[in-house]
Amino acid sequence: MKIISVVGARPNFMKIAPFIRAIGKYNQINTSNERIQHVLVHTGQHYDERMSNTFFKELDIPEPDVNLEVGSGSHAEQVGLTMIAFEKVLLKERPDWVVVVGDVNATLACSVTAKKELVKCCHIEAGLRSHDISMPEEINRMVTDRMSDLLLTPDKMSSENLRNEGEPENSIVFVGNIMIDTLEYLREKATKIDFNNILEVNALLENEDRLKFFSKIKDYGLITMHRPSNVDDEQILEAILNWYVDDATERIPLIWPIHPRTVKQIEQFGLWNKLIACRNLLLLKPIGYLDMLRLNMGAKIMLTDSGGLQEECCVLGTPFLTLRWNTERPITLTENGGAGFLVGNNISNIKRDFDLIMNQNRNPKRPKLWDGNTADRCLNAIVNFK
Ligand code: UD1
Repeated sequence: MKIISVVGARPNFMKIAPFIRAIGKYNQINTSNERIQHVLVHTGQHYDERMSNTFFKELDIPEPDVNLEVGSGSHAEQVGLTMIAFEKVLLKERPDWVVVVGDVNATLACSVTAKKELVKCCHIEAGLRSHDISMPEEINRMVTDRMSDLLLTPDKMSSENLRNEGEPENSIVFVGNIMIDTLEYLREKATKIDFNNILEVNALLENEDRLKFFSKIKDYGLITMHRPSNVDDEQILEAILNWYVDDATERIPLIWPIHPRTVKQIEQFGLWNKLIACRNLLLLKPIGYLDMLRLNMGAKIMLTDSGGLQEECCVLGTPFLTLRWNTERPITLTENGGAGFLVGNNISNIKRDFDLIMNQNRNPKRPKLWDGNTADRCLNAIVNFK
């Protein structure tokens, strides 16, 4: 059997790493004619050292066999360029399966191209729905699931979403959350990383005094924010930044590994000077997986609009606010047994639930099958697909 698996952007890397390891294990115990031939394709949507290469090294992902080098661009440009380039790869390699993960532009582009070439497609992390079509990722999720022959879901709510959309029962397999495989695999290693070293190596700006202050703090909060709904609108972004600077940092020092897209928007809206003047806020460059895991393990709270971090906070027990109006991962919310609160980008909501989580202790939650063994179940479902 020949499988092409696809990655494109940062959140894909922690999902593909355990899958590739599962193929390695499978090949060790099977005879040569049953072995899986694997081809890794990187679409090149993320290409920086810090947004891509670091993750390949830390997560032990082999060098991609093919890099489509699509780079940055509009959604149509990224999707179109990926489809054109990926079609050529499919014609050359003629795989039995294309495996896509997550919800980025690479996921959509390669699932559509695979189906047009009559290649079976498997989606790992199928069935997540925010029901908000203004999110580019929601379009990617819906189209990818529609194209996929095999839909591997992280939780039962996602399986239910697919049933409600009329997907046939034999295409839906509940396998658990593959990102948690990576978390469990690297948990031990991350605990050993020195906190101060992370701050020193990754500080965005040179500021001795601030690093000295942060080296002595006991509690801290973490921020990540890059969604267009939070960073592309000047008024929304300004209100959130003002709250960080004038209010939140008065209560707890905040560490913010900042996404390149967010930096660009803050600069464009002229909000940079106020932000960097805030003494209780430390900006970091985008950090690697292990450093993020280490910071998350020690954080008192997390403020985020990321998808994956909501899941990691749940398993680590970090109380968190999701700075969005909806989530495709409702299982991470306290009302469904998780550790988070949905607050959107309305400052009075944020303030109210910030007070709530500041008084909470770490309380790890583990949804069913988020056990570190999801990748084996994914491969098993592919190999046994009828
Ligand atoms: C993409 C995903 C999003 C995911 C996020 C994680 C889609 C639709 N969106 O959004 O789901 O949560 O990745 O990071 O696929 N840039 C760099 N270096 C890079 C790549 C990008 O500096 O290696 C900058 C570019 O200026 C680019 C901007 O970041 O314009 C945004 O990158 P892009 O790939 O368009 O989307 P993300 O916002 O990262």
